[in-house]
Amino acid sequence: MISKNIQDLMKQMTIEEKIGQLLQLSADFFQGDNVAITGPLKEAHLGEAALYSAGSVLGISGAKTVRQVQNNYLKHSRLGIPLLFMADVVHGYKTIFPIPLALGASFDPQVMKTASTIAAKESAAGGIHITFAPMVDLVRDPRWGRVMESTSEDPYLNSVMAKAAVNGFQGTLPLDQEHIAACVKHFAAYGAPEAGREYNTVDISEWRFREQYLPAYAAAIEAQALLVMTSFNTLFGVPATVNQHLMRDILRNELQFHGVLISDWDAIGEIIHHGVAGDLQHAADLALKAGVDIDMMSFAYAKYLTKAAVLDTQIEQLINESAQRILILKEQLGLFNDPYRGLSDKRETEVTLTSKNLAAAQAAAEQSMVLLKNNHHTLPLNSATAISLVGPAADTGDILGSWSWQGDPEKTETIAAALAKQFSNLTVTPGTQYHHLQLSKLDDAVNASRQQEAIIAVLGLPASESGEATSVTDIKLPTEQLMLLRRLAKLNKPLITIVITGRPLDLTEVDALSDAVLLAWFPGSRGGAAIANVLSGKVDPSGRLPMTFPRNVGQVPIYYNAYNTGRPIAGTPADDENKYLSKYIDSANSPLYPFGFGLSYGDFTISDWTLSPQSVSPDQPLMVQATIHNAGNHAGTTVVQLYTHQTIGETVQPVKQLQAFKKISLAADQTQTITLTVPYDQLSTIHADLHRATDQGNYTAMLGFDSAHTASQPFTVVTHQ
Ligand code: NOJ
Repeated sequence: MISKNIQDLMKQMTIEEKIGQLLQLSADFFQGDNVAITGPLKEAHLGEAALYSAGSVLGISGAKTVRQVQNNYLKHSRLGIPLLFMADVVHGYKTIFPIPLALGASFDPQVMKTASTIAAKESAAGGIHITFAPMVDLVRDPRWGRVMESTSEDPYLNSVMAKAAVNGFQGTLPLDQEHIAACVKHFAAYGAPEAGREYNTVDISEWRFREQYLPAYAAAIEAQALLVMTSFNTLFGVPATVNQHLMRDILRNELQFHGVLISDWDAIGEIIHHGVAGDLQHAADLALKAGVDIDMMSFAYAKYLTKAAVLDTQIEQLINESAQRILILKEQLGLFNDPYRGLSDKRETEVTLTSKNLAAAQAAAEQSMVLLKNNHHTLPLNSATAISLVGPAADTGDILGSWSWQGDPEKTETIAAALAKQFSNLTVTPGTQYHHLQLSKLDDAVNASRQQEAIIAVLGLPASESGEATSVTDIKLPTEQLMLLRRLAKLNKPLITIVITGRPLDLTEVDALSDAVLLAWFPGSRGGAAIANVLSGKVDPSGRLPMTFPRNVGQVPIYYNAYNTGRPIAGTPADDENKYLSKYIDSANSPLYPFGFGLSYGDFTISDWTLSPQSVSPDQPLMVQATIHNAGNHAGTTVVQLYTHQTIGETVQPVKQLQAFKKISLAADQTQTITLTVPYDQLSTIHADLHRATDQGNYTAMLGFDSAHTASQPFTVVTHQ
């Protein structure tokens, strides 16, 4: 139902004003009480009128600034339609949470929801109305730098996290002033660029797209995300931004998305480079016809649509539809009642960087760290241990990760500073920079380590080397850092490596050289304190891998839910005898660390698990009951994971597919019974005709603490009773 207010506005608006709503400009065009007609606007022959009719701006924040820009804008807006303020609030605003991939590793949607709720509250107080998040692109290639923005290689985990993020950002609709609108991105399949090269071609079948990539976008839309962003890549041979099948048939008709579709930055302009539009006018026409409402920074709509609307009533109709959708969004945000959404300096100070928010960021970091190796109980460490702390990431605030533009690395407590609070006998000698080696510094770190009882090496990469436009061909740690680790390993002392990274790395050598390996990701504002708590054993590292860690870059893309092929290896010695199997001759097929893997200070076992019913049907979901015991002498947290496999399908089926998980904490020697449920519909797959259905037949349920080590039981599915 369109409100009377919007209907009236639509009647009063000129075609130019409607097209104005479709234009999104970057922050540089708005400077407090003024506007700047610079570069691209000038080139597009657009003046002040176009600027003051622009519907939205990206990248402006701060209560005072936003008030000022909105105030000035409204003075010039004939019909008093407020400006929308959008920004990338990805894993926190001022309080920075671990990167999204780490939040995925928490295997706890509540962690994601809390992070997004706090990010919304802080950024709403800073004047942001809409965040360009969550990014839910399924990721399987660590060469691609943007894997850090996603939550998983797995459709189910990705979907659960997508929903949690949307619920956290938006709260319960209608939006209140403490929440912001979510924009799901990047539609679609941006996470599958060939060879992991940024902005490269994506070419996957529609069957595979629907089976694995689409579910997380669908989950976010089902959770009522108010916006969707197009992706830069090509899909099914047509750039996503102008792909009518993708945007009209799938997004609008099938997924029933009625909100605002925004292009990615200049993605409409890039259609020319893709070779699908001859010029910007052509690109504008294609994008509008695909249903893109907002043109982010290509100026195609602002420049060409007025003329096109005169010549073509279909164009005029599409402009009306888009303008209306944007006005509805403004109404949903309450901007017609209060264009400032309750902004004040006082509120901004009160809700931002509070100790409660920081504590939540720390808890999220603790829940997302993955203990990859812990030989002979090297960890946790006694607080009296004399520790040598080395490595380029040991004493820097650069642990926030990409997309933390409002975070301040300078003011972020370093790992060294946080460790010093819990370990009184600590010496800090970095030994090397991330990429630059000085042999004398390396000697210093090795000599300092000789004097101590244990060594902690904090290795990894700066935030600038993950995120957008940071594709790599080598996923090992830099040689300088490996040289340091090799020298340290020779000292024969307990060697603990902490890895700061935004992507899966080839940690084969790191694993071999270290006694313990802790994956800390980019842990955010309170990452240092979280690491200290994990090392001292105050908390259990309870993250589990949301992406497979390969043995080497040549295995990439590698993911647990692969297909068996016609020539699978069986995992027996006979595999070596048979050359003609689906395998490498220079590497194992198995990864270094599988999906779902992570150790605990506890020691968990699964005993007597049962399936009921043995026969699943539309009104009888699959229910698994299991008894989990912590047999260790340390409290711990584990993630129980349920996978299924359909024995015979019309199309090939993954060897296993995550269907449910539960994170539980148990004291030493404690036991708990848990139940995991999989609805009938969730067992559905995409058939050769591209329709989703659950098949009758034989299935296997697999239960375990990671994807590679599971116990199986059969069950059947009947489609009707
Ligand atoms: C380009 C990125 O691809 C997108 O994720 C982001 O939201 C926009 N720039 C705006 O910053």
